Amino acid sequence: MKTLDDLLAEGVEGRRVFVRADLNVPLDGTTITDDGRIRAVLPTVRALSDAGARVVVASHLGRPKGAPDPKYSLEPVAQRLGELLDRPIAFATDTVGESAKSVTASLASGDVALLENLRFNAGETSKDTAERGAFADELAALAEAYVDDAFGAVHRKHASVYDVPARLPHFAGGLVLREVEVLSKLTGQTERPYVVVLGGSKVSDKLAVIEALLPKVDKLLVGGGMCFTFLKAQGHEVGKSLLEEDMVDTCRDLLDRAAGRIVLPVDVVAATAFAADAEHEVVEAGAIPADRLGLDIGPASVALFTEALASARTVFWNGPMGVFELAPFAAGTRGVAEAITKVDGFTVVGGGDSAAAVRTLGLGEAAFGHISTGGGASLEYLEGKTLPGVAALEQ
Ligand code: 3PG
Ligand code: MG
Repeated sequence: MKTLDDLLAEGVEGRRVFVRADLNVPLDGTTITDDGRIRAVLPTVRALSDAGARVVVASHLGRPKGAPDPKYSLEPVAQRLGELLDRPIAFATDTVGESAKSVTASLASGDVALLENLRFNAGETSKDTAERGAFADELAALAEAYVDDAFGAVHRKHASVYDVPARLPHFAGGLVLREVEVLSKLTGQTERPYVVVLGGSKVSDKLAVIEALLPKVDKLLVGGGMCFTFLKAQGHEVGKSLLEEDMVDTCRDLLDRAAGRIVLPVDVVAATAFAADAEHEVVEAGAIPADRLGLDIGPASVALFTEALASARTVFWNGPMGVFELAPFAAGTRGVAEAITKVDGFTVVGGGDSAAAVRTLGLGEAAFGHISTGGGASLEYLEGKTLPGVAALEQ
């Protein structure tokens, strides 16, 4: 696999370089609530710009339906990217249209442009190879070399991730390389005890990773919305909590096979509604009232998880323990994150929401061994799947 260093060694002065980044940041309206993914790609953009490249950055944001949708505009990201790089960003208001063509054509050496959301074009995510290819042709025409630094999107077989590198000399950016190197340490020989903490809303999203990790781990701690399907499988009623009815049997089977290694919450914060001002109380996991829903794990669960983490030598954490965006339901995520910061060993925070939680709760990124920029991507890597973006770079 050729890398950014190889490209820089070739020389990029005056060359147009397409950088696929994952700038899919959480937004509140047009306000970026966590700019971690923008910061993560700065070294690559800066290195290219400093070396005199004409840099064309592209990303997706959210899941628009293949047509322009102002809600998902990358314009606020262009603004923030410019502030962080301390240089002006030329923003194209489309992806491969008039604006993109004129903006990229008028870049001088060292200039940086950002294209509008790639998913405003149906070709980006199309399952049809020809439709994706047609869009990739147009994207590739904007540059002479391709750098992939969008680790968070390498699991997507999308035009800008999979098809553009087939059309241009292609190089792996530093972020992609570092992510793959760190995550590979979790799939080989790991130092034991190896404790995995999983949260987030759906068991179905995590099933494959649970299957892949179960034979390797000493303990699998389960919180977040997905814990209620496991609690139900244990025979508890979960009130109005999030429940994947069709996964209950699967969870029961996992609990049987795990023989005590899957650890579930023993108490939860049960609320009358999904709202910051909803009435709420801590109840035992087996006593969730029929008219309430669990929105966080409780303090006894945090203590139980903390104890399991205390002796760990390797930890992987993916998914918040509760609705941490709402203050009354943030304590579980905060408590578990704090326990992970105290681990004497190798700790990895996988992805999107948990990485955002670390930063928005002000936990200090330095206290973790590695904070991945990829949610789904890090899970699929750990599942042992082939990542289309990485495969494309290897070709
Ligand atoms: C993510 O946030 O997980 C990545 O940016 C990929 O986004 P997607 O799940 O919408 O493809
Ligand atoms: Mg995602």
